[in-house]
Amino acid sequence: MGAGACGGRPLAGAASYGLLALLLVVSAPLGLQAAEPGDGCGHFVTYQDSGTMTSKNYPGTYPNHTVCEKTISVPKGKRLILRLGDLDIESQTCASDYLLFTSSSHQYGPYCGSMTVPKELLLNTSEVTVRFESGSHISGRGFLLTYASSDHPDLITCLERANHYMKTEYSKFCPAGCRDIAGDISGNVVDGYRDTSLLCKAAIHAGIIADELGGQISVHQRKGLSRYEGILANGVLSRDGSLSDKRFLFTSNGCTRSLSLEPDRQIRASSSWQWVNETGGQVHWSPGQARLQDQGPSWASADSSKNHKQREWLEIDLGEKKKITGIRTAGSTQSNFNFYVKSFVMSFKNNNSKWRTYKGIVNNGEKVFQGNSNFRDPVRNNFIPPIVARYVRVVPQTWHQRIALKVELIGCQITQGNDSMVWRKTSSDTVGSTKGEDETISEGIPSEEIPKGINVTTVALPLALLALLVAGMGLFAALRKRKKKGSPYGSAKAQKTDCWKQIKYPFARHQSAEFTISYDNEKEMTQKLDLITSDMAGS
Ligand SMILES: *[C@@H]1O[C@H](CO)[C@@H](O)[C@H](O)[C@H]1NC(C)=O
Ligand SMILES: *[C@@H]1O[C@H](CO)[C@@H](O)[C@H](O)[C@H]1NC(C)=O
Ligand SMILES: *[C@@H]1O[C@H](CO)[C@@H](O)[C@H](O)[C@H]1NC(C)=O
Ligand SMILES: *[C@@H]1O[C@H](CO)[C@@H](O)[C@H](O)[C@H]1NC(C)=O
Ligand SMILES: *[C@@H]1O[C@H](CO)[C@@H](O)[C@H](O)[C@H]1NC(C)=O
Repeated sequence: MGAGACGGRPLAGAASYGLLALLLVVSAPLGLQAAEPGDGCGHFVTYQDSGTMTSKNYPGTYPNHTVCEKTISVPKGKRLILRLGDLDIESQTCASDYLLFTSSSHQYGPYCGSMTVPKELLLNTSEVTVRFESGSHISGRGFLLTYASSDHPDLITCLERANHYMKTEYSKFCPAGCRDIAGDISGNVVDGYRDTSLLCKAAIHAGIIADELGGQISVHQRKGLSRYEGILANGVLSRDGSLSDKRFLFTSNGCTRSLSLEPDRQIRASSSWQWVNETGGQVHWSPGQARLQDQGPSWASADSSKNHKQREWLEIDLGEKKKITGIRTAGSTQSNFNFYVKSFVMSFKNNNSKWRTYKGIVNNGEKVFQGNSNFRDPVRNNFIPPIVARYVRVVPQTWHQRIALKVELIGCQITQGNDSMVWRKTSSDTVGSTKGEDETISEGIPSEEIPKGINVTTVALPLALLALLVAGMGLFAALRKRKKKGSPYGSAKAQKTDCWKQIKYPFARHQSAEFTISYDNEKEMTQKLDLITSDMAGS
């Protein structure tokens, strides 16, 4: 195990080893990748044929004496593309601090320090083991890696910003897992985003792709604005931004109209709040007031206690089956009533069917949406895939003081035969390539029928079974590690005897508190990818 390998620090090594063991034991029941050595791993999101992985604390300094090892794979028969967004490892020798990729036929690396590292590797296998190891060091962000199958040669990392590209229109593939990577975005889906914004995070904010899935984005550049308004959407907060030369917009499928709601006929609720004011008048926060377009107070629930036995809901009848791609919600909108819903789930049904709760694609459980953070500002959430239904309910999960909601549904009609034609026509303001734009929305009704298809260990298993499973996984991991010890890290091992040298280096680098990554060849030519096939990179 790498943690204790540096002979000079037996105590620290032993301690961190113990800590690792403890961490594994503690984290295992929660289903946190217990099968891999992982105390040096940070963010890790993977879905079918793409994903994102970082070292621990990224972009902060990675810890001393840690190992992160994970095997990533794309569907069999496809080739794997690895793309390094950032590599900052404090070592010139790669002795005890390095990043290494091992496939069944090749080894890439070890990489460290200021060596030139290929930005992108095209492997001829569908699987690779990523190993990151750290010794004792002062600074260094570690690494950020994204991957995808060779179906997505236009893969980018989570760190690409629109101002990397000079073309006015282009399409890229965002991997799963970019939402929680540090870095700013400014703007919103309607007005566009400041060109300094991270592309993939902006696409999640805009509701073009889901964080847990990744996907294709189509971008067009426009002249900049004098100011960019920040809002919370899809769990991502965009910031207010100042004047910029350029901005970018996403080409969307056009199913983004406001679905008109008729107050009384169409909106119902589980309860509503009524009270008598100082002058003896009845004040009613009725469901009919829940239209976001209308001024005035919102709908509010009768009960304000935190521990409702009954689930409150606000129900909207659209009159006919419609495709619903998003929802905007606000709180009371009244400064003297600081009420808002912090999180909610969505249920839906058709004329005679049962209520079903919206589930994302990845998790099997109900999908919880991040709602408002104050009584005033509307927050948007998108449904990927969309909800196709006549009735929908917003079911608050957590709230501030009292449940209070105003809503607007976003979507479009379902037309016979050929919907996509209609959507495109309605998006006349978004010029540009329509290629691939329907991908995110081509799925039908999200429901139990959708295969779960993901590697997340179920938390719902009975505890005993889970314990058994975890024990089994531990054994498996141990066995696997023993098997591997044989050869793959040969070169890295040999260099480990140089451990001392490393500590002696008087590193003068400093870690600025603010995180910036500089790109030397900022304006990357989008055509000329830094492709290195395994043949070339082998030696
Ligand atoms: C690693 O250990 C050294 C020596 O104990 C210490 O100076 C340094 O700050 C540590 N680095 C990190 C990232 O914790
Ligand atoms: C009390 O409620 C009545 C009826 O809703 C309204 O007309 C009146 O303005 C309210 N008075 C105050 C002080 O808000
Ligand atoms: C559902 O009911 C409405 C009116 O109640 C009717 O117009 C519509 O055709 C029905 N839809 C289906 C799919 O049965
Ligand atoms: C459906 O769309 C395709 C192209 O998008 C078009 O060629 C075809 O005629 C359309 N069909 C109908 C029934 O509108
Ligand atoms: C991958 O490339 C290596 C060297 O170029 C070769 O030996 C190996 O057979 C290739 N593997 C596959 C699955 O094509």
